[in-house]
Amino acid sequence: MKQAGIIGAGNIGCAVAQRLIATGHEVRMANRRGPESLGDQANVLGIVPATLEQAAGARDVVLIAIPEYAVAELPDGLFAHTPADAIILDAGNYYPGVRDGSIAEIDGGMPDSQWVVSRIGRPVIKMFNMIHANRIAESHRPAGAPDRLCLTIAGDDPEDRARAIALADSIGFDGLDAGALTESWRQQPGTPVYCAHLGIDAARAALAAARRDAVTAARQEALDRARSWQANGAQVGLWNAAGRSDRA
Ligand SMILES: NC(=O)c1ccc[n+]([C@@H]2O[C@H](COP(=O)([O-])OP(=O)(O)OC[C@H]3O[C@@H](n4cnc5c(N)ncnc54)[C@H](OP(=O)(O)O)[C@@H]3O)[C@@H](O)[C@H]2O)c1
Repeated sequence: MKQAGIIGAGNIGCAVAQRLIATGHEVRMANRRGPESLGDQANVLGIVPATLEQAAGARDVVLIAIPEYAVAELPDGLFAHTPADAIILDAGNYYPGVRDGSIAEIDGGMPDSQWVVSRIGRPVIKMFNMIHANRIAESHRPAGAPDRLCLTIAGDDPEDRARAIALADSIGFDGLDAGALTESWRQQPGTPVYCAHLGIDAARAALAAARRDAVTAARQEALDRARSWQANGAQVGLWNAAGRSDRA
């Protein structure tokens, strides 16, 4: 049985856990409050409640699924015992101000997952950040289905990207190689592919259409729109550049 660790027991962590368990993984899940707080996830999803160290030590794959600011709060050396051939996936997005405060390096132009690498001292694959958690749980499809969605996958090691693409396929999604982490800004909030929930051909075109000089403004515009809707009493999440209501 393959073993996965998930750090974060919220929307995205639980959605990915569901798919991994459905496809034969043992999933160790950890959160901020500790394993004793994970009874619901254990009962409903079948995860194994874990400490951060147990989740980070999973044999095959480790997913980081916590708010961006919280990556800086993880214990030093947490990933030192992650097996060398396990892949570490980063589902995070940076939402300055509203949730994540201010992270100077990302504000200065560093792709958010490169900042995560600088914090945890291990390479990561950027994956699951550009799809709404509900879609992971509900929109998985067999290979070849005409409405199969695509996950874009960026990371510096081509073999790790290939493994992540195979993982995406195994849980019901096409994986698209999005290149190295220097290019991963193309799938951050404010880009055409972000929460657009596209098939693989459209996702490839959306990555190519991303404009780096437009990303910060588009993200800010989306956040401002969400704030103004919230001020008017609407229950909205963080909106993407195209005004879709999907939050990630
Ligand atoms: N929501 C989506 O659809 C979606 C989709 C793609 C990507 N993302 C991105 O994925 C990340 C997580 O989003 P989410 O919506 O899943 O968040 P969420 O529902 O708010 O869950 C956050 C989880 O992170 C845990 N956490 C917070 N600080 C921690 C710390 N210092 N150490 C360990 N665990 C900590 C929390 O622990 P407790 O349970 O103890 O509170 C909680 O389980 C964000 O960066 C988000 O932008 C979200």
